[in-house]
Amino acid sequence: MINVPKGTKDVLPEESYQWQFVEGVAREVAKQFSLKEIRTPVFEHTELFQRGVGNTTDIVTKEMYTFLDKGNRSMTLKPEGTAGVVRSYIENGQFGGVLPAKMYYIIPAFRYERPQAGRLREFHQFGVEIFGAKGAETDAETIMIADTLLKRLGITAKLYINSIGCPVCRKAYNAALKDYFAARLDGLCYDCKTRFDKNPLRLLDCKEEACKAINANAPSILDYLCEDCSAHFAALKEYLALGGVSYEINPRIVRGLDYYTRTVFEFVSTAIGAQGTVCGGGRYDGLIEELGGGASPAVGFAAGIERLLMVMQNSGVEIPQPEKPVVYLAGMDESCRKKCFEICCALRAAGVIAEYDHMSRSVKAQFKYADKLGARFVAVVGGNELAEGAMNVKCMATGESEKVAFENAVEYFLNK
Ligand code: HAM
Repeated sequence: MINVPKGTKDVLPEESYQWQFVEGVAREVAKQFSLKEIRTPVFEHTELFQRGVGNTTDIVTKEMYTFLDKGNRSMTLKPEGTAGVVRSYIENGQFGGVLPAKMYYIIPAFRYERPQAGRLREFHQFGVEIFGAKGAETDAETIMIADTLLKRLGITAKLYINSIGCPVCRKAYNAALKDYFAARLDGLCYDCKTRFDKNPLRLLDCKEEACKAINANAPSILDYLCEDCSAHFAALKEYLALGGVSYEINPRIVRGLDYYTRTVFEFVSTAIGAQGTVCGGGRYDGLIEELGGGASPAVGFAAGIERLLMVMQNSGVEIPQPEKPVVYLAGMDESCRKKCFEICCALRAAGVIAEYDHMSRSVKAQFKYADKLGARFVAVVGGNELAEGAMNVKCMATGESEKVAFENAVEYFLNK
């Protein structure tokens, strides 16, 4: 037997309605905030992520699904959505230059991580990117899109915000981090020793317990923000207050991707254990230029759909069931089933959800199947009904039956 690859999951027919619900709510929220959908390829040139996500991140150094295609080009299954959207924006003439450019996407993403609850190798994201607006109100709006989505899904999660400054303040902060960690290098994991040389900010994102303990007392970026970054962070807090969004400042949030500047944020749920971050994002004012476009501010986030669903399941959120068939047409023998088929076709053409017997089962077995489907009515066609030109329609909830002429079937069920 061939199994599903480790760290991936099937969405089975009985559960796909839950995904459709979450995606439907996400699309509704996107519409309300004037976001337009963008679709980019599942794989991109590897260089895009090396330059975009950053060569010192775990994502790029350890987790990418990279392969050579038949033309010997290095390709990578996208580990996240932002870099591809930026690539497309630059390649397609800034989408006509209308600013801000407000976009969303629902994508699969791929990271070769150690699988556990809430951490997969193929997972799915609802993401949002807004290009061209530099003010803190756009950061606040981005956070509020995520907040609105979570609330509509019935999810309670805590919002943590931070500012990781800009290249100007990062210089002084990196120096302070180096000072702090230089004296503690022995206690750090192997990876952190390389992070120390290459990108000290990455030290704060280490998941090893020993490193986390050392990180707890590291200098706070908030003490090193330049005047402009400080003002931006203050404005963000003001806008969040205006929007009625409560938050906690967590100076330890640096995020696992290199492109962020200034605002970073995460929504964390306590309902699903260690992988409780349901949503993360922030501002990335340098990325569009870094990837070859003109300088342009940008801000966005992504939410993990599997994690959203896990939180909803663990906290007992009821997801509306998909629509059930209005009527199941049960035929006694072959000629009756042909009549059922004919009526079923007419009903479906009129937009009624209708089903009939594909398995040549007995009427009793067809009733059982209709019940499993949740059909509201079962219309029986036997020899007598065929002769009379009318079927016997039973309401499954009340048990009451009535005769309905074949030629009136469409009108009858359209009104049900
Ligand atoms: P990220 O924090 O790497 O950010 O991922 C966003 C969300 O995707 C996480 O909060 C989590 O819910 C989900 N996620 C990440 N990795 C996994 C995994 N292995 N298994 C299941 N779910 C996972 C980004 O991807 C950025 N592109 C977000 C962004 C957009 N920033 C600005 N614009």
